[in-house]
Amino acid sequence: MSKDVIIACDFPSAEETFRFLDRFTGQKPFVKIGMELFYAEGPSIVREIKRRGHKIFLDLKLHDIPNTVKRAMACLADLDVDMTNVHAAGGIKMMAAGKEGLESKGGSPLLIAVTQLTSTSQETMENELLIEHPLQDVVTQYARNAKAAGLGGVVCSPLEAGMIHQACGRDFLTITPGIRFEDSAADDQTRVTTPAKARLLGSDYIVVGRPITQADDPAAAYERCVRDFLGVEAK
Ligand code: C5P
Repeated sequence: MSKDVIIACDFPSAEETFRFLDRFTGQKPFVKIGMELFYAEGPSIVREIKRRGHKIFLDLKLHDIPNTVKRAMACLADLDVDMTNVHAAGGIKMMAAGKEGLESKGGSPLLIAVTQLTSTSQETMENELLIEHPLQDVVTQYARNAKAAGLGGVVCSPLEAGMIHQACGRDFLTITPGIRFEDSAADDQTRVTTPAKARLLGSDYIVVGRPITQADDPAAAYERCVRDFLGVEAK
C-alpha cells in the first residue's frame, strides 16, 4: 500500500454522503466510513461507495471475544473493503481471530488496530482502567501486540508514528487522524498536526475529516492535503 489521504465521511446519511462525494469531479478519494454512517445505512452504503470507485477504510473498531470477532469479520470480508480495524485492547488472540475471519473469503484487506483512543488520558487509564504505565508505553505495547497478531498497522497520533515505526519496523503502517491546516480550527482535537508535518513524522496514511468535509470547496481542500502530505497533485 502506498501513502494516501483518507477522508473521514462522518455524515449521518447516505444522502449527505453522496451530496459530498458528488463535489469531487475526476478524483476518487480514499474514504473512511465510520460507525455513524454504517449503523444508519447498513452494508449498502459500503457497496455503493465502492461501486463509485473509491477505496474504503471501514472503521468499526471491533472488540469482542475472538470467535465473535472472527465471525463478524467473515461477514465484513464480503464487502471487500481495503482497510478495516479492531481494538488492540481485545488482545493478540482476538486480533488474530479477526484477521482469520477477514481473510476467510480469499481476500486480504489491510487489518489495523486502534491502540489507546486519543480521548483516553493518562488519568483515565490510571484511575478508571487501573493501567499504571505511561500512555506512550501502552500505545507501543499495543502496537507490538498488533504486529504479533499479524496485523498490518495501527491507528495513532502522527506524534506517535516514529515511536511505533521504531518498535515495529518501517513496514508496519501508521494511520493518523488529528490533522489540521495551520489556518483551520482544531475543533475537538487536542493534539493536531498539519499534513506536511505528518509526512515528516512518518505517517503512512492521514485521516482528515472536518478540514475537508466542512470546507467551502472540499475538492480544493482535499487537493491541498494531498499536495502537502504526498508532495504531488491529487489523482
Ligand atoms: O474531523 P476530524 O479530522 O477531526 O476527523 C477525524 C476522524 O478520525 C474522525 O472520524 C474520528 O472519529 C477519527 N479518529 C480520531 N482519533 C482517533 C481515532 C479515530 O480522530 N484516535
